[in-house]
Amino acid sequence: MVSIKDIRKSNADFKSSDQASGLVAVFVGSTSGIGMGSLKQFAKNAKAPKIYILGRSKKAAAPLLDEIQKSNPEGKYDFIETEISLIKNVDKACDEIKSKETKVDLVFTSPGYLAFGGRLESEEGIDIPHALRYYSRLRFIYNLLPLLKASPLPRVITILAGGQESAIDINDLEVKNNFTFIKAAENGTTQTTLALEELAKSNPTITFIHKYPGFVNSGVIDRLLATAPGLFTIPATIGRWLILPVVNLFSMTVDEAGERVLFLATSSRYPASKMSGTAGVPLQPGMKVAEASVVKDGVINGVYRVGPNDESAKESPVLPGYRADGVDALVWEKTLSTWERALARSA
Ligand SMILES: NC(=O)c1ccc[n+]([C@@H]2O[C@H](COP(=O)([O-])OP(=O)(O)OC[C@H]3O[C@@H](n4cnc5c(N)ncnc54)[C@H](OP(=O)(O)O)[C@@H]3O)[C@@H](O)[C@H]2O)c1
Repeated sequence: MVSIKDIRKSNADFKSSDQASGLVAVFVGSTSGIGMGSLKQFAKNAKAPKIYILGRSKKAAAPLLDEIQKSNPEGKYDFIETEISLIKNVDKACDEIKSKETKVDLVFTSPGYLAFGGRLESEEGIDIPHALRYYSRLRFIYNLLPLLKASPLPRVITILAGGQESAIDINDLEVKNNFTFIKAAENGTTQTTLALEELAKSNPTITFIHKYPGFVNSGVIDRLLATAPGLFTIPATIGRWLILPVVNLFSMTVDEAGERVLFLATSSRYPASKMSGTAGVPLQPGMKVAEASVVKDGVINGVYRVGPNDESAKESPVLPGYRADGVDALVWEKTLSTWERALARSA
């Protein structure tokens, strides 16, 4: 377990280091919850950062934008108002970022929501929550790879469920058959790790982190229970009003979740497969480098599946077989073809 005390010391070291200067970051899904906690920490601790914030409503995000501007007046904060469940919108936003920047140091993604009910297809034919947790996030990462490669310490962080990978139907990667939101969430988790591992093979200077945040008090469960249909409304309402407030007492705050993300984004504990420039904030006394998801012939792949306390998860029961059978390459190939189909539909 990486203690919050060590994380705060590391973040303080970051703030007073040269590494904190001139950073460019892209935050997707940071107008609430874990993303918002992460954005606030990054904005407050970096020196004169340039931050792109993607969200559906600039008006709704105005108080947040005011707050980060006040916390660091030297920073530049560019809000891109868009609906990122559509791949065409992701491309447009990335084109805008690429036209203004020559490098990106951090791509952070955490958009999403959970809801009961069936598939909810966008005009591009992808289930919207599934796009938010996987297809759109990966599109941001993929599009911004050239800018990430120009950074001395490039990092990609996606907040979903690293370490919780499970068996998936490789013939139904978009979860079109027997859909449940749990099945779709599990599928997104496994595909995320496999896709990041595939990307890491050709982008060895980038660190890729897939984090499971544990239970963070962001209101996500309350919003899920609010979507319970029919007779389930009664137990869901009891859960919302009586059980959830007690459970929330034991959850992590979005502030701590954000401090932990700043640590993941800056510490030398999570090295890329190949170092390109800066190693990152030195380890605190007694702290060890994290375990990458694959180590082959002594070479790490630069991908980390981390849990709530930022330790690497144990090897998964399904991933070694998937890697051996080339499911990582298959997932990537299918992801590319799903994007292609989606873009053709909305052309
Ligand atoms: N919180 C937890 O305890 C927990 C536990 C395990 C895993 N997770 C996972 O971690 C991630 C972040 O969780 P969170 O609780 O921090 O999330 P959250 O606060 O509920 O939402 C994060 C972001 O999702 C975006 N979003 C929601 N619906 C959208 C839509 N239809 N189109 C586009 N964007 C949409 C919102 O941006 P805009 O409204 O500005 O567009 C918001 O900033 C999620 O994938 C969640 O499943 C969370």
